This record gives sequence, C-alpha cells and structure tokens, in this order.
Amino acid sequence: MSVALAFDIYGTLIDPHGVVDELSKHVGDRAQDFSNIWRDKQLEYTWRRALMQRYENFPVCTRQALDYTDTLLQTNLGESAKVALMQVYRVLPAYDDVPASLQSLADSGFRMFGFSNGVAEAVSGLLEHAGIDRYFEGVVSVDALQTFKPSPDVYHHFIEVADTAPENCWLVSSNGFDVIGAVSAGMKAAWLKRSQSVVFDPWGVEPTLVLHGLDELNQKIII
Ligand code: LAC
Repeated sequence: MSVALAFDIYGTLIDPHGVVDELSKHVGDRAQDFSNIWRDKQLEYTWRRALMQRYENFPVCTRQALDYTDTLLQTNLGESAKVALMQVYRVLPAYDDVPASLQSLADSGFRMFGFSNGVAEAVSGLLEHAGIDRYFEGVVSVDALQTFKPSPDVYHHFIEVADTAPENCWLVSSNGFDVIGAVSAGMKAAWLKRSQSVVFDPWGVEPTLVLHGLDELNQKIII
C-alpha cells in the first residue's frame, strides 16, 4: 500500500505532560500548571523562531521555555532540577492507545513515519523507549530544514521523503495548527481530539478526519 502516515510525536503519540511526576517533586501541586505553560511556551518559541528565521533546535526551545516558566512562576528550580526535567523529556511515555493502534495499522499495511519538530535522534529514542520503533519506516524531522511546523516546507519535505503522491500522505496529529499546516500543503490529515474540551481553529480549513482515539484511525481512514 502506498499510503504514508506521518505521525506527529509530542501530544499525539508521546505525552509531553509525562513530566508532571518529576515536576511535582520540585513544584508540588503547581506541576500541571507549570507543565501547561512550559508546553505552550515551547511551541510559541518554535513559531517565533520559524517566523524570524532564527532557528535553534527543539531541545533549545524546550530548555528556554523551561527557564521562562521557572522565572514566570518564581519556582526557583536549580540547574540540577532543570537537567533532570530535560532528561525526563527524553523518556516521555506513549499514550495508552498507541501500541495496539500502531499494530493494527501495521497489519493493514500502512507505511508509518514519525514526523516531528523534535530532532531525529531524540524522537527515535522516544519511540524505542516506548517499544514502538519497529512500526516506523523512519523519522522525518524539521531539523533537516532548520524551521518548524507549520511552515509549508516541512510538509513538502515529508511528501518528498515518503516519495508518494501528496494525496497518499496523511498527517495524524492532535495539534490543530499541524493539521491546518498539512491540509494547506496538500496532504490529508486526521485530527486526534485527545481532550473533549479542545477546540479546532476556525480558519475554514478542516481536518479530513476527526478521531476521538487513535484506535479509530484504521477504520475511519479513507484510502
Ligand atoms: C511535534 C510537535 C508539534 O512533535 O509537538 O512536532
């Protein structure tokens, strides 16, 4: 089958809020708030760096967002706590529905790739740590282009690497900005609504599919 699935990593296969346990040791009951601000700021830094054409890689954006959040919330994390948190970022867990869903998609013959803002080495490490690396033909990272999602260049790069027609390339992502980026660049996209309260941006660009769990993808995908 020539259909290529491009799986977003953070927020889609891998839970960026898997840092909350480690954060709790340092900031107590503010851990979830800290994690939310950290993640939002991390993404904001990627967008700003792409727009300004001042690329620094995803680990740098993550570390600078950590420093920002620590200062904002006056949590006074020391360097060793920050190093420990960045280390946890390299072993974040997969969401519960991921392994079985990937197995069923593999059984159906889909080609699968990791497709991320993250650097390839860190993404491969996460997939290995979660025991799901065997499902993937490869990892496609924005790092090759020195920009970030949702630059159209990164979706075109994915299509080139997958070496198939754009209409055979599907992004699977919980991140609305990523879905709009992929559809705008000619790919199809499944929006994985991991939380009931999340709202899709009203830009008039719709996902090809909406999923309420990754396990729905194999049945709902139209090929
Ligand atoms: C990624 C970001 C969007 O994995 O979380 O590409």
